[in-house]
Amino acid sequence: MTVQPDNPELGQPPSGPCHVAIIMDGNGRWAQARGRPRLFGHHAGARRVRDIVGACPELGVKYLTIFAFSTENWKRTQTEVAGLMTLFRRYIMKEMQEFVKANVRVRFIGDRPRLDEKLRGLMDEAERMTNQCTGTNLTIALNYGGRDEVSRATKRLAQDVAVGRLDPKDVDEETLPKYLDTYVLPDPDLVIRTSGEARISNFLLWQSAYSEYEFIDTLWPDFTKEVFSKLLSGYGARERRFGAVSV
Ligand code: IPE
Ligand code: IPE
Ligand code: MG
Repeated sequence: MTVQPDNPELGQPPSGPCHVAIIMDGNGRWAQARGRPRLFGHHAGARRVRDIVGACPELGVKYLTIFAFSTENWKRTQTEVAGLMTLFRRYIMKEMQEFVKANVRVRFIGDRPRLDEKLRGLMDEAERMTNQCTGTNLTIALNYGGRDEVSRATKRLAQDVAVGRLDPKDVDEETLPKYLDTYVLPDPDLVIRTSGEARISNFLLWQSAYSEYEFIDTLWPDFTKEVFSKLLSGYGARERRFGAVSV
């Protein structure tokens, strides 16, 4: 992974979104267009992740959250699901040392119990090994679904009410996010979806209430650092009003 070292003489990073979340879509179509099995596309997609994470420091992206596998993706064939799980295991094993070297702090969001024990072990290890890293915050959404996350959060919140740790009168917009998987992360400023689909497919439902969106036709395995950089420049030209009026 090539990472630009932090150099104070280079001045401030360009103004842009601090937290970018990406729905990495289109791996299957990319492979099919080449007459190859879908997993071939997933492998090509994994290689793109490496470049995009590596580009974050120079592009001023402090938080990058990527959607790798949704709670709905279990509906795919057993072959594809098993292939993806193997890919995730290999990816984490291979990249772990690179993340530490590049000062990338890794976190996972999503429902872990449904994932196999070996994969869960690697996820814990990657989080532990990088927990002192202060560079890019990479969050990988694996077996993640926004509705599932809100349901799990609500369950924990209800348990706290039941044991008297939380008074229902105190529940407000600040309370629920503390129970979400993303509690240590800022909300995404920009959500990108590749492959031409203009939907969010259950990604960061609560957190993206005021995010900007970019839906682009590029398939994920073709998503380069240059495409990324262009989208970030476009973001700089937008005016975020958060319900207020322009001044
Ligand atoms: C996104 O690519 C990766 C995952 C959902 C795991 P897809 O596999 O959805 O690719 P398309 O949308 O079928 O082209
Ligand atoms: C969203 O892509 C999930 C990920 C990128 C991991 P999908 O391909 O699963 O979404 P739909 O089925 O087109 O909505
Ligand atoms: Mg898809």
